[in-house]
Amino acid sequence: MSNEFDDIVIAPDERLFTECAAIEEITPEIRALADRMLQDMYATDGCGLAAPQVGELIQMVVIDVDYTDKKRNPYVLINPQIVTADGEEREFPEGCLSFPGITVRVARPSHVVVHALNLDGEMMRYEARDNLMAVCLQHEIDHLHGVTMVDHLRPLKRAAALRECQDAVAAGARPGDTE
Ligand code: NI
Repeated sequence: MSNEFDDIVIAPDERLFTECAAIEEITPEIRALADRMLQDMYATDGCGLAAPQVGELIQMVVIDVDYTDKKRNPYVLINPQIVTADGEEREFPEGCLSFPGITVRVARPSHVVVHALNLDGEMMRYEARDNLMAVCLQHEIDHLHGVTMVDHLRPLKRAAALRECQDAVAAGARPGDTE
């Protein structure tokens, strides 16, 4: 893809609301997709990106919550499973590269433990509490099950958020624009 912004699937595309398939083998194509997703995520200033957001309906997400131009710490999670989600619920303003122009407040558990394969096929454990990583893990893994941030809202608010997003896109908003 020549343009990272054009690579991102934008709501209300139905691929964002579709259950994704588990990855059975980590092939060169899977590695190439991970590279492409990381490139897209950094180019659009995102902190996470899920495969369906680039049109691939498989269970992979990339996350980097605190990168700078000089320092990057990317995680690639394959077939991630939330094994624990507990702790007090926290409301946090979330954006999503597939929903240009909007930010929505979503309440989620504050503590999460995730198991996932890395690109070497090793089972990794991620634990996060009360931070952006805890939010991001849940937001990105939701994407693999056809659930987006607006699906956590009540129906009227959800419809309003989708409308606001479509208006913003019509007005020229691009992935990474949050208002
Ligand atoms: Ni998202």
